[in-house]
Parts: sequence; C-alpha cells; structure tokens
Amino acid sequence: MSRFIEFEGGNVESYLKTQENKDLLRFITCGSVDDGKSTLIGRLLYEAKMLFEDQLLALEADSRKMGTQGGNLDFALLVDGLAAEREQGITIDVAYRAFTTNKRKFIVADTPGHEQYTRNMATGASTADLAVILIDARKGVLTQTRRHTFIATLLGIRHLVIAINKMDLMNYDQKVFTDIEADYRAFAKSIGADNITCIPLSALAGDNVVEPSAAMPWYHGPTLMAHLETVPVDDDLATRAFRLPVQWVNRPDQNFRGFSGTIASGAVRPGDQIKVLPSAKTAIVDRVVTYNGDLPVGVAGQSLTITLTTEIDVSRGDVICNAADPIEVSDQFEVEVLWMGDEPMLPGRPYVIKTGNRQVPGTLDSLKYKVNVNTMEHVAAKTLTLNEIGVCNLELDGPIAFTTYAENRHLGSFIIIDRFTNSTVGMGLIHFALRRASNIHWQAVDVNKVARASQAKQKPTVLWFTGLSGSGKSTIANLVEKKLHALGHMTYLLDGDNVRHGLNRDLGFTDADRVENIRRVAEVSKLMVDAGLIVLVSFISPFRAERLMARESVEKGEFVEIFVNTTLAEAEKRDVKGLYAKARRGEIKNFTGISSAYETPEDPEISLDTAKLSAEQAADTIVDYLAKQKRLTKA
Ligand code: ADX
Repeated sequence: MSRFIEFEGGNVESYLKTQENKDLLRFITCGSVDDGKSTLIGRLLYEAKMLFEDQLLALEADSRKMGTQGGNLDFALLVDGLAAEREQGITIDVAYRAFTTNKRKFIVADTPGHEQYTRNMATGASTADLAVILIDARKGVLTQTRRHTFIATLLGIRHLVIAINKMDLMNYDQKVFTDIEADYRAFAKSIGADNITCIPLSALAGDNVVEPSAAMPWYHGPTLMAHLETVPVDDDLATRAFRLPVQWVNRPDQNFRGFSGTIASGAVRPGDQIKVLPSAKTAIVDRVVTYNGDLPVGVAGQSLTITLTTEIDVSRGDVICNAADPIEVSDQFEVEVLWMGDEPMLPGRPYVIKTGNRQVPGTLDSLKYKVNVNTMEHVAAKTLTLNEIGVCNLELDGPIAFTTYAENRHLGSFIIIDRFTNSTVGMGLIHFALRRASNIHWQAVDVNKVARASQAKQKPTVLWFTGLSGSGKSTIANLVEKKLHALGHMTYLLDGDNVRHGLNRDLGFTDADRVENIRRVAEVSKLMVDAGLIVLVSFISPFRAERLMARESVEKGEFVEIFVNTTLAEAEKRDVKGLYAKARRGEIKNFTGISSAYETPEDPEISLDTAKLSAEQAADTIVDYLAKQKRLTKA
C-alpha cells in the first residue's frame, strides 16, 4: 500500500479544494471488543486508506505475534492501541480518529463498551451526529445495546446505525437479521428513538462494510461506509436564531474593542441589532472580523470577533443574541445529570457549574429520580454514583443565559466541577428553567442587622465549632456562651444533637444527609447573624466544602472557624456517650472517624489543642479572640 493518498486527476490544488469543501461527520461507535467494534473501526480506516505504511508494518508484526486471525491482519490490535486521554483530572477513555474518503471527512470517537464506562460514551456522544451501535448477530439485542441507545438518544444523537455484526458466524441468514432488527426497533420505539438504519455485516470478512456482500444478496440497503458517506448531516444550526457565547473581550489597543467566540447557532451581519444576555443591553453590529479579514456574514461554527457601533458592557460568558429573538435567562433549572465522579453526587453541596464560557457556583437539589440505564425505569434515589443518570433541580448563585439542551447542545449543557479537587464530576443537560422564585422580591426592612447589632453592643458573628464527636465542641461552646452572656451579649447556641431533634430530625448520617444538615444550619446561622446575634454552631461538620459554604453565606469577618482538635484516640478514650464503642462493634454505621471521613480544617481562625488546654482555657481563648477583633463592641 502506498504511503500517499491517491487523488483524482492528479491535481494537488483541486484535491485540496475538494478536501476543504467536504463536510464533516462526527460519529461514535458503541459496543465492546467482543462485538467486533475494534475490527470494524480498523477495517473502516484500512479501507479508507488511512493506515500509513509504518502503522501497517507494525500492525502486521503485531498480528503475527498476538493476533487471533492466524497471521491475517488483526484490526482490533490497531484500535486497542489508541491512547487514552485525560480530561480535567479524570481519565476518560475516548480515542478520536480522523479519516477521509472521497466524499466526506470523518471523526470517529471510540469509547469502551463496559457498563462502568457510561461517562466515556457520554463524552464522545455529546458532539456526535451519528452513533454506530454494534450487535453481535449471535447474541441479539442486549442490555448494553439498550443502554447505548438510551444514552445516544439522551445526548441528542439523531442518526443511529445498528451494525449487526458477525453475520458470517450465522451463515448470513436473513432471518437472524430481520429478527434482531424487529426486536431492536420495538425497543427503540419505546424510548422515542427514530431515524434508525440496520445493516447486516461482517467486520472480519468485510461484508457490507465498504463493499456490498455477495453472501447476503437479500440485503438491499447501503453498506456501512456508503451510509456514513451519504447520511445527511442535518446541521440546521446556521438557520436558527443567532447566539454567540463570548469567549473573551478582545481589546488589543484603545481603538479596537471586539467580542470573540464561536457562533453556537444562526448568523450575524454588520447592521444587525443584537441583545447581550443576561444584561439585556442592545446594540448594533459594526463589523464581523476574522483572521482573514472582515466578513459580510458569520455563521454557526465559525470563530470570530464582532464589534459594535456603541460601547456597551459585555463580559466573558455573556451570550450575544439577535435582539428580536433573545435567549432566556434564569438561575434555576430542571436538569438531567450524568455523574462522572468517583465520589457520589451530594445534593446541597456547592459545585462549580460551567456552562459555555461561564462558571457559576451552584447546587444540585435532591434527586427526583434516577434512571436505570439498563431498563430505562425511573428509580427513587437520593444521590447518583459514578456513571449513573438522574433528574434533579439545579440552583445557581447568579443568572445565566441558556437554551434547553434540545434547542442547542452547546448552550444547553454544562459540566460540574468539584471546588476542591477541580476535577469534572459530572455533566448535565438543561431540560427547562424553573420559575419558582421569580415573583418573590427581597423585602427591605427598616430595622436591619446593623441596628439590631448595635443595640446588642456587638458585631454579629458565627462561631463555628468543628471537630470529632466527643472532641469537646459542645462543652467549650457552652462555656463561651456563658461568658458572653455574663458580659451582656446576645447569643444563641445551635448544637448538632439538639437541632437533630427538631429542624433536622429527618436526617441521618450518610454523606448526603450531613451535607443537608450543615446546609440548613448554615442558613439558620445566617438568619441569626442578621438578627444581630453571636451564634455558636457546634456540629461535627466533617466536610470542608460545607464549612466553606457556611463561611461564604455571611460577610467577611463574621465567620470564625474553631477547630476543636482532639485526636480520634483521645475522643474514643473519653467516649462520653458510649458511641465509639458501639461504632467499633458495628452497631452504628457511618460513624465519624471510624467509618465516615473527617476532613481536618486547613486554615481555621482558631485551633484548640484540647490535650493542652482545659475547656475553661479554650473558652477564654475564644472570648479573647473576639475582644481583639473588636467584635464585642458596637459596630
Ligand atoms: S454532622 O456530621 O452532621 O455535623 P452532627 O454534629 O449534626 O453531625 O451530629 C453529631 C452527633 O450525633 C454526635 O455528637 C453524636 O452524638 C451523634 N451521632 C449519632 N450517630 C453518629 C454518627 N454515625 N456519626 C457521628 N455522630 C453521630
């Protein structure tokens, strides 16, 4: 085989021109190696003459050494050798491969087929136009086939090709094919998937992959390659409303100020009236600029810069739209979440939500349901674990401009990032915005926090005690409250055990329940700070993320984190409530320090070593700190 691609007519110029004008089909392949997926991709690449000599020589050598095809080329080896790629801290095994035929350019994402790799498939699928789902003709429609179809449909892939492979092992029997096809179509209909093409083939023998099969004269449809080359890439994005998510504000000098990004949908021309969301400011487009000069019109998919005739405020993450057809803005949504984190999703925990070019803190509410991706059933559940899919509400700290996922995959999807590890823990699709709190305004009141605090002669403060059970939090907090009370201050002590008798009586000790426990008590302490009080909060509060949330819910300086630092050995030795003994005997599940994590504070305002300090001394340390910070005097 030649190292060089042969081109029609031998004219390089015209060859390059035809390459440029070819459209691009992105597709994914779903199935396992056992289904013959690697062999199929290998053969497509081979037949498309995309295997260069050096790769081919290596493949020949490998095939002789390790191949399962008796010295013949084993295409599976080629694809299995493709590298895994890393994305934001988690490994997502998606191998992308580009190839070209005379008719079209292709990018194929190859994702492992195992059950635990839902996240890999979703990563490949979110940009694909078409999915090739492999079925082993000997096995028919499997659970995995249903799962792949569901995820592909969920992620908006419009074309499904069902490659019924290994027909050679079933004597190229027409009935085998028609039975599987009928079975599959019945299932696909039940989940609303349409636009399905079923092709009987043998990746190994080459039947119906590129060349029509002589062994299956009863099949009159296209070969896989013919279908891939001709299926319409129904990219109608260019004809929809104009949306440009701003990636950066381009200001090389005083004379130029433009807004750059990739057009998500629609088209833009100089003179168009635009609206910027969420600010809702309007302006007129002056120029549409690219590296190759100004354009009369820019369309979906192009990266460019637009300038406006008037100066208005636009920042990264805003979306510039057609003024007559602007995008929606909201801060609450119903969303479908695919969890990709090794740790489970925790409703109520703040995550970073990245949509388009914008990052906003947000929390996922408790699940409405999760989807059993093998049966499509809705199942009651509180959280999602790795590779699970569920529906819940999302609340953001600020409004964003968005579309539904159905309208635009780019503007209607987001990724979920852990605030501490910075890794991607999930992806989500926006179903629709919620209007829950849209008609509720913040009511201004005349007697405010400053007025109340000044009457109490103090600066409202949260004293947040964290530490293991039995570390001495409540004892010390109780002493501090007595001392402050004696000094004439207005205080309130929120104690974990007590609050769990009332407000939080519905919560247990799973990670999810602890997150909710702290979320509620953080809200309550925020109200109490607004009431002008010095609030003492004595909760194990084992997770950094929720302590940070509590800190961020009040103003700077109002939050004092107090780490009651008692070792596990010491707390267990004291075992005032006898709980450690029970936990060791396995009678209490999820016990902090034993069967549930405690994340030590990294930078608390006060750290109390209870091995060195008496409770009395510890309490004095805190009161002294407050006095030094001038929090025990009028604001
Ligand atoms: S937190 O982790 O959610 O902040 P919280 O402070 O409200 O915990 O409650 C802790 C108290 O509940 C402990 O002091 C102990 O008395 C009791 N408790 C009962 N079961 C557990 C458990 N599994 N883990 C920790 N504390 C428990």
